Amino acid sequence: MDILIRKAITADLDLVTHIEATCFPPAEAAPREAFKERLKYYSGHFLIAFDEGTPIGFIDGFVSDDEILTDEMFADASLHNPNGVWQMIFGLNTMPEYRNCGVGGRLIEAFVELARKEKRKGIILTCKEEKIPYYAKFGFVNEGESESNHGGAKWYQMRIRL
Ligand SMILES: CC(C)(COP(=O)(O)OP(=O)(O)OC[C@H]1O[C@@H](n2cnc3c(N)ncnc32)[C@H](O)[C@@H]1OP(=O)(O)O)[C@@H](O)C(=O)NCCC(=O)NCCS
Repeated sequence: MDILIRKAITADLDLVTHIEATCFPPAEAAPREAFKERLKYYSGHFLIAFDEGTPIGFIDGFVSDDEILTDEMFADASLHNPNGVWQMIFGLNTMPEYRNCGVGGRLIEAFVELARKEKRKGIILTCKEEKIPYYAKFGFVNEGESESNHGGAKWYQMRIRL
């Protein structure tokens, strides 16, 4: 598979909304309005993967000086601070028919590369317990339970230092 990864632009709104709605049940999927804000504030921290022009996944998150990833950040893209030291990950999605081929991994690696180029201290994400070993493979370290209870689930915070 010949995967191309590029930064998002505001015109990608429908495309990313579609990927999100395909990857998450309606109660959990971030709505179009949320992506509109995210693309407005931080399209430079929003990468989309394509297979021969077909959008197949994305990774996104803003930058902050805060050491902790909170639910408030997911809900308010305007908190993006371009000069912050920590790159956050809010979403990582691969379209179902493209999973288990390394697309998610390629997106994580591209995000790490971008953060390194921008001289960030590192990257912070939150995930459910079953994804901890997956992110650990890329160098993320589990810091224990997050204060988030998004969707009533238990979340863990993980961080990679660059
Ligand atoms: C989580 C998610 C983004 C992973 O995307 P993906 O593109 O399938 O990720 P990868 O292909 O990099 O890795 C998935 C698995 O396939 C394996 N894999 C990677 N390349 C492979 C290959 N060429 N052949 C076989 N397996 C491969 C990986 O080792 C990994 O296995 P593991 O889960 O046992 O560690 C995707 O499942 C998704 O969109 N899920 C719904 C949304 C979601 O839950 N997002 C995460 C929120 S924390």
